[in-house]
Amino acid sequence: MNFNLTEEQQMIQQAARDFAQAELLEGVIERDNEQKFPYEAVKKMGEMGFLGMMVDPKYGGAGLDSVSYVLAMEEIAKVDASAAVIMSVNNSLVCAGLEKFCTEEQKMKYLKPLASGEVIGAFALSEPEAGSDATSQSTTAEDKGDYYLLNGTKNWITNGGNATYYIVIAQTHPEKKHKGINAFIVEKGWEGFVVGKKEEKLGIRGSDTHSLMFTDVKVPKENRIGEDGFGFNFAMAVLNGGRIGIASQALGIASGAYELSLKYAKERKSFGTEIINHQAIAFKLADMHVNIMAARMLIYKAAAEKDEGKDISESGAMAKLYASQVAMDTTIEAVQIHGGYGYVKEYHVERMMRDAKITQIYEGTSEIQKIVISRAISKK
Ligand code: CAA
Repeated sequence: MNFNLTEEQQMIQQAARDFAQAELLEGVIERDNEQKFPYEAVKKMGEMGFLGMMVDPKYGGAGLDSVSYVLAMEEIAKVDASAAVIMSVNNSLVCAGLEKFCTEEQKMKYLKPLASGEVIGAFALSEPEAGSDATSQSTTAEDKGDYYLLNGTKNWITNGGNATYYIVIAQTHPEKKHKGINAFIVEKGWEGFVVGKKEEKLGIRGSDTHSLMFTDVKVPKENRIGEDGFGFNFAMAVLNGGRIGIASQALGIASGAYELSLKYAKERKSFGTEIINHQAIAFKLADMHVNIMAARMLIYKAAAEKDEGKDISESGAMAKLYASQVAMDTTIEAVQIHGGYGYVKEYHVERMMRDAKITQIYEGTSEIQKIVISRAISKK
């Protein structure tokens, strides 16, 4: 067992840390206030290779390992959780699935621009009545011979407005239930595809979340991913891998809030001393530190297992479940430590508290992680 990062991993971590300070910190409060997408920063993230980190360079990626990816995700999320989710969806839910399951033609056409950050992608699984219960897809993809006819609505789609390519999950053979589901690559601008309203959100307000409407959209057969009926297994495989990204987003939110709280506690005085000298504050910081380290270890373990080619459905769900709880607990305590300052925007921690909540909801709620984990342990 080796707990040391390689030189390359440390370099990626430092590069992401520098990037977040230089390109994301300024304007993060304004973007949150105004629900503004970080266009310039996302463009630069693409140039730096952060949008296709694990993809083979021949498809436009950076060819790095999953440990490097979670390190970079944490650093970006520490400063701007919205930028982190844009990055996570493009890397984990879009590029990883395309690289693993698509044909060479599909990869050259779609993965290359996505992994190089020329364009960004979105993953459209959730529906008004199918969030956690992902097998109950009502979006349909009727087989018409040369093409599929896509009809339905998707909800809460991250990158929904700014994506160019969308992975859309739809039901083709309802009688076969989840074995009749397919996944498709759909392009923005195709007739009948409308990007719906942008959601007004509690947190991660710099990322854009939209509903998507499909009315008789013709999807060429060559845009189906994998064999007929592979769509649900595709979605599950992608989500299994993706959970380490969201876990690191949660970790970044927690460690960002912790670092700000530690600094504040060393500076702020009350009752004649810096507040870190009061056990009421020092114990909160000690708890934060331990919990963050424990979350980090779960994430690194899952990422390292992914790099070894192991099935990370259980370890990824554990990392996501725990890290998202730590993000929530840590940010609530960060606001408490900051007192009145914690409740105003200038000090960042109130935003982090709002941002933390989503990590317990997307890519499967905490309850879904427990389903995945309990099923895995019941088979042992
Ligand atoms: N890994 C791999 N395969 C899995 C799996 C997993 N974790 N869980 C289920 N499967 C497979 C099963 O093996 C089965 O396949 P076969 O029939 O081929 O054997 C198939 O999926 C159906 O399994 P179940 O009957 O167990 O399905 P279920 O309906 O009971 O539950 C679930 C499955 C785990 C609850 C699943 O529906 C799920 O993960 N739901 C959460 C969906 C989700 O994460 N939504 C979030 C959307 S994306 C998002 O949030 C992106 C963003 O914006 C950041």
